[in-house]
Amino acid sequence: MDIIIRANAQEVGEAAAQVIAPFVREGKTIGLATGSSPLTTYKELIRLYEEGELSFSNIQAFLLDEYVGLDREDDNSYFKTIRNEFTSHVDFKDSNVHSPDSTDPDPYHAAALYEEKITASGVAIQLLGVGVNGHIGFNEPTSALQGPTKVQALHPQTIKDNARFFNGAIEEVPTHAMTQGLGTITRAENIVLVATGDTKADAVWGIVEGPLTAMCPGSVLQLHPNVTIVVDEAAASRLENVEYYRTMERIRLG
Ligand code: F6R
Repeated sequence: MDIIIRANAQEVGEAAAQVIAPFVREGKTIGLATGSSPLTTYKELIRLYEEGELSFSNIQAFLLDEYVGLDREDDNSYFKTIRNEFTSHVDFKDSNVHSPDSTDPDPYHAAALYEEKITASGVAIQLLGVGVNGHIGFNEPTSALQGPTKVQALHPQTIKDNARFFNGAIEEVPTHAMTQGLGTITRAENIVLVATGDTKADAVWGIVEGPLTAMCPGSVLQLHPNVTIVVDEAAASRLENVEYYRTMERIRLG
């Protein structure tokens, strides 16, 4: 695991975009996350596109997750959110952005189909955020560490955290989501996780220095050979070995 610590969210986004950019230049398939954490990364990728340094015209993307029951065109669907925050600002084709079919009357069937689609394609680099409780994708605590794409009942904490996207109305937040499983996510060849702010400090500790446990689903990344964690000072504030990580970044080869 490579740990990169930066002063603030903007620098976190710049560093994460630098990890992703070479894969885009090679036309590889990327995995996208929604939420607040990746916004500065998307901003930087958009800047690189505007500078003529990157094109997404032939890139395929797979979203991590989607709320059950929200149509793609619903303002709170993750497909629409990714389009508003990122893909419509660059030359991404909507038809190249894949997400679980949240309107399938049988979400278990939709989850299985999505798993098949990702398995057939493969993902070269997956961008992740992390929830306050350590979830990645919507894999809440106790998720199977090697599980496939699934239907997940959302943790009350996640519903509370995400109510901000629904004008603060907790009752408006869907109770279920479809999410790539921890097994699906960790089959991506490379992973970059971004986290900012002190509310993420416990989760970041759990991922980097805590025990491997389904109670902190992100800790499964300890098993993956190509993971980069990019955090700001606040999200790194519970880490015990910050100087070691800074030294490792300084002397890293390539
Ligand atoms: C989003 C996702 C979630 C978020 C996590 C953090 O696609 O899969 O795991 O990354 O809930 O959300 P933010 O970044 O809004 O704090």
